[in-house]
Amino acid sequence: MSVPSQRRSQDFFTEEGVAGFTHRAMTKAMGFDDTNLRGGPVIGICNTYSELNNCHSNFNTLCEAVKRGVLQAGGTPLEFPTISLGETFLTPTSMLQRNLAAMDTEEMIRSQPLDGVVLLTGCDKTTPAALMGAISADLPAIMVSGGPQLNGYFRGETLGACTDCRRLTAEHRAGEMDDQSYKELEDGIVRGPGHCMVMGTASTMNSITEALGMALPGNGNIPAVDARRLQHAQAAGRRITAMAEEDLRPSRILTEKAFENALTLLSSLGGSTNAVVHLPAIAGRAGIDLPLELFDEISRRTPILANTRPVGQYQMQELHNAGGIPGLMRRLLPLLHGDELTVTGRSITDNVHAARVEDSDVIRPLDNPVHPHGGIAVLRGNLAPEGAVVKHVAASPELSQHRGRAVVFEDVEDLKSRIDRDDLGADASSVLMLRNAGPLGGPGMPEVGNLPIPKNLLRQGVRDMVRISDGRMSGTAFGTVILHAAPESAAGGPLALVRDGDEIELDIPNRRLALLVDDTELERRRAEWSPPAPAYRRGYGRLFLSSVNQAPHGCDFDFLTGRDPVGEYRQPK
Ligand code: FES
Ligand code: MG
Repeated sequence: MSVPSQRRSQDFFTEEGVAGFTHRAMTKAMGFDDTNLRGGPVIGICNTYSELNNCHSNFNTLCEAVKRGVLQAGGTPLEFPTISLGETFLTPTSMLQRNLAAMDTEEMIRSQPLDGVVLLTGCDKTTPAALMGAISADLPAIMVSGGPQLNGYFRGETLGACTDCRRLTAEHRAGEMDDQSYKELEDGIVRGPGHCMVMGTASTMNSITEALGMALPGNGNIPAVDARRLQHAQAAGRRITAMAEEDLRPSRILTEKAFENALTLLSSLGGSTNAVVHLPAIAGRAGIDLPLELFDEISRRTPILANTRPVGQYQMQELHNAGGIPGLMRRLLPLLHGDELTVTGRSITDNVHAARVEDSDVIRPLDNPVHPHGGIAVLRGNLAPEGAVVKHVAASPELSQHRGRAVVFEDVEDLKSRIDRDDLGADASSVLMLRNAGPLGGPGMPEVGNLPIPKNLLRQGVRDMVRISDGRMSGTAFGTVILHAAPESAAGGPLALVRDGDEIELDIPNRRLALLVDDTELERRRAEWSPPAPAYRRGYGRLFLSSVNQAPHGCDFDFLTGRDPVGEYRQPK
């Protein structure tokens, strides 16, 4: 194991002359003394607390727990903020800022006198963003999640954010739930801190940190308000201090096999389709290519063991009580690369071999899965030559092979203005298609892919239809929803050429998505097509539009892929 000759932070604090004097004097101005400055490793704690991010409302307490752990192990903890991406408020979509958060994280790690870093994450984009930044900087790093929310309850029913926000809003729109009940529901469905407690994007990505080897066991499942979450954070503080001594960097942990483990866990969770965008971006920082076909291949050979919503029955609280991600990974060991190194300094097998499963209905055994295959399928065809993604286990079986006529929406505004109009011309067999929802067109690839069912069809009892777009869908959503169609329409992808009434064929078992219009006609339409005006002329939005990769490559910026490891701390000039 390589040990650095001199700690990175010591370059900063022991420098001769006025520079070193100033670094020490300014640090002492915060109440630190020589014990901190000439002692053990300096550990940065990247705190994404924000009152504009409800999922992170427990992060200051969490951060204190990490600090205690660092101090126990002889290190000096220094907290710093990076931008906090909350799903709830950010417009047009938090995905637009994921790469900005990754840059913020990387640059703060790179440019401060740190020897290791703990990254506090939770809400959807915060986890991939922090991983991307930490991988590119390649300083010893541990992920600590804020944990999932507790279950919601309403009139005897267990509810989940925000699967039930959607389901019950649809019931309210359909006139099945009165206004008073709807308001009462809103008052208490989310009971406190933590990220959404169904197996949405946040639960998926935070669980995946364990399979990647970038978090201590339990990071995915311990509830936000459980004392064990603080104990977990404290243990991470102790462990990162040792990792700084060992110089155990992400580049030693994140191999191709580590990413295969992530895909296997994703499949066994029936996890969010958003992981199919985030994981290629995260892997890209480590110099690893994750083609869409690998998601399909691993999904086909991995059964779903986590009986969690929206695919299954339970939520993160029950998953935690049943043995959590370590229990699930123990059952999954025959399908994992168990020798892969993790932040514990030990292998995946070492980490989980003693984990227990307390409830085999929540965490199923391999021979009695929730579903024999993982949830995600990759479709190809002339409507998505570079691929499209469907969470087929959240889709209606009767729609998995379907032909229907397209009802096309030009963009989200068009969708909003026309979806409930009586003259829409859609019936239950129609294929609702939304374009200009991709990385360039959205912009930022918003979660609008699960188009609402038109009100008049809802009243007739229709609850699912085939929907296609180049956008994403919330990990907490469900339905026969084809996502991430690539290339996107704003880049001239085939979605741009579809017209109302065109016949579309979906064949999920055979992984096919076809526009049944002949090539000559499509060429004629292409000649008439011109790209939409760019959504931004200046600022970060312009950088985004000029540099973002298409969905199959993870929507990272083309100039951010790969890593550029931090070396010695460079003295300020
Ligand atoms: Fe933060 Fe759902 S709103 S995870
Ligand atoms: Mg989400």
